[in-house]
Amino acid sequence: MSGADIGLIGLGTMGAMLSMNIADNGFTVAVHNRTASRIPEFLEKAGSLAPKFTGCADLKDFVTAIAKPRSIILMVPAGSATDQQIEKLRPLLDDDDLIIDAGNANFHDTQRRSSEASENGHPYLGIGVSGGAEGARFGPSIMGGGEKSAWDRVSPILNAIAAKYDGAPCATYMGPGGAGHFVKTVHNGIEYADMQLIAEAYGLMRDGMGMTAAECGDVFANWDKGPLKSYLIEISGKVASAIDPETSKPVLDIILDRAGQKGTGRWTVIESQMLGSAVPVIEAAVGARNLSAARDLRLEGAASYGIKDRKLPDGALSLDEIEQALIAGKVLCYAQGFDLLSKASEEYDWSLPMAPIAEVWREGCIIRSAMLSDMSKALDKEPDQNLALSAHFKKIISDNIDGLRKTAVAAQIAGLPVPALGAALAYFDTLTTERVTANMLQGQRDYFGAHSFERVDKDGAHHGPWLNQHMTT
Ligand code: 6PG
Repeated sequence: MSGADIGLIGLGTMGAMLSMNIADNGFTVAVHNRTASRIPEFLEKAGSLAPKFTGCADLKDFVTAIAKPRSIILMVPAGSATDQQIEKLRPLLDDDDLIIDAGNANFHDTQRRSSEASENGHPYLGIGVSGGAEGARFGPSIMGGGEKSAWDRVSPILNAIAAKYDGAPCATYMGPGGAGHFVKTVHNGIEYADMQLIAEAYGLMRDGMGMTAAECGDVFANWDKGPLKSYLIEISGKVASAIDPETSKPVLDIILDRAGQKGTGRWTVIESQMLGSAVPVIEAAVGARNLSAARDLRLEGAASYGIKDRKLPDGALSLDEIEQALIAGKVLCYAQGFDLLSKASEEYDWSLPMAPIAEVWREGCIIRSAMLSDMSKALDKEPDQNLALSAHFKKIISDNIDGLRKTAVAAQIAGLPVPALGAALAYFDTLTTERVTANMLQGQRDYFGAHSFERVDKDGAHHGPWLNQHMTT
């Protein structure tokens, strides 16, 4: 053998699954892991695929085992662990050997690593890989960033291992530098928002309507047959219906209400603020996770105010209206995600392919959903138009906005927290209001800081009559 087709470092769950996927598609893979004992364990688990792997405990042996010019995937924790791995690896490589970071990197890190690599004449790719462990094993969605020539070099392998939608691989080149990891970050921001919207719908059924977990599971399974059809609705149904073997209770009822996060949703919000893009549903989702994690504070709040009854009055809200709320909320949250992508594309000069982004999310990734095909069609026609204003989604929002309004209002009157649904409604109402109230903000800014304002009746920067009065007194 002249050398493995590709190398992979990092045999954690995602790395191990991705390696098996690559091998399953007929490629040979050299594998390395910092903790060497994991390598024989992995090879044993690989079973009939084991002959496709060369396990190397030593990094030099690992490099030697790969065919030149080498392509090496890193599946190590994001941040300093990735930098340390690159520092150890790069001196052992030839100039044209390609490093591919497939972890959940912050795109700023990828921008930096990518320009350092290119200054030294080395190819580098940062690819976002979505789909969890199952996706990594049987077909993830892959969002690539870096030099196009480097992408072209490994795209035969990436296309082979990616999920397929109607036979087409869900692996797309997004643009230079950190473009791929940025798209993956926004994917995760939308993921947080979609999950939160679903969790709020569950809360309305559980606390507002007194439904059992199994009943909620049936509702999700039913919604999965309609416009909400998506991986997240499907798994929410399965989570709600599952029974804990130890206690015979619904698993959902014994899961503590404290959500974790690795930070990609937070990064989406940070970048949206830096780029001046409004993503309030995603912000609400990140905020809700933060507040869920502050359990002690919530327990104190609950005990202090002692509000017990949060039931929705009989007939206040129907399941159909909650479904409508989710449909409208989902479209509005995707509209926000694509707005952020469009602003980043302009700022970083990436020329992000908007319709292909919707397409690459149709299979393999966590936010895969039936709506994405229509989103891709809408973005294909008008890549920079807010999705909520496209003809197709305007109709969907118009048909479902009353359900969202009724749901958010009924929940708020009953005291049921619906931060993401509420944010979606406020976004819609703001987006469709010709004259918002920022004239007051401008007046206030000018009053206290002489920041000036524009007028509706003439051009230029103006001040209010208050300026001379209060500056001179
Ligand atoms: C995916 C997921 C995956 C993972 C993230 C988010 O696309 O496969 O987004 O990358 O679930 O780590 O996890 P947190 O919820 O912990 O931020």
